[in-house]
Amino acid sequence: MSSGIRMAPSILSADFAALGRDIAAAERGGADLIHVDVMDGHFVPNITMGPPIVQAVKRVATRPIDVHLMISDPDRYIEAFVNAGAHMVSVHLETVPHLHRTLTYIRSLGALAGVVLNPSTPAAALEAIASDLDFVVVMSVNPGFGGQKFIPQSLDKIRRVRALLGAAGSSAPIEIDGGVDASNIESLAAAGATIFVAGNAIFGTSDAEAATRDLRARAEQATRAEA
Ligand code: DX5
Ligand code: ZN
Repeated sequence: MSSGIRMAPSILSADFAALGRDIAAAERGGADLIHVDVMDGHFVPNITMGPPIVQAVKRVATRPIDVHLMISDPDRYIEAFVNAGAHMVSVHLETVPHLHRTLTYIRSLGALAGVVLNPSTPAAALEAIASDLDFVVVMSVNPGFGGQKFIPQSLDKIRRVRALLGAAGSSAPIEIDGGVDASNIESLAAAGATIFVAGNAIFGTSDAEAATRDLRARAEQATRAEA
């Protein structure tokens, strides 16, 4: 039986001059999704990549592409990212005035719609929208950079989001993003996260394949222990 664990390596920490090589290594190690961090220098203090990179990733990746939009006014760009090959698109709750409309729009384009919560946004902010989303992303660092330190309060946030979704009758998965590594992935899985983004802990090592495999095994083990 599948545990539902999905590893989502973040290419933000990959070698941009060798993206195909790095993605292939992560996929050999068991990557289930390829996480693409889009930053605009406005909502977050960093600028990263846009639809052409997603298109390039699409050519080499054999796994679905998970696009995390850390941009102001994401509605303007969602279609371009879906056309470029995004299978999952998540928007920050802090960036959209009409979240229900945005999620409906993502779905109408044929992608899965996710909502991301900054560390300072309470789980309760999801209450009115809990049954209308396909996945929730809990940020465990302040968005903007890879390789930051995990914020421990995120564990409790996962539990709260899990409970809130359950109360709304939703089985939407929880994705955890930021500072995930071998020291915390087991407790994150035990708290209820099933999708694990990892950038530095995978591409910051000399062996992305082995790092992906190791993280995945730890998450699987914690899930089995819970069952
Ligand atoms: C942070 C990004 C993350 C980041 C994760 O703003 O959303 O996806 O790349 O990288 P690590 O795992 O290095 O914290
Ligand atoms: Zn991300």
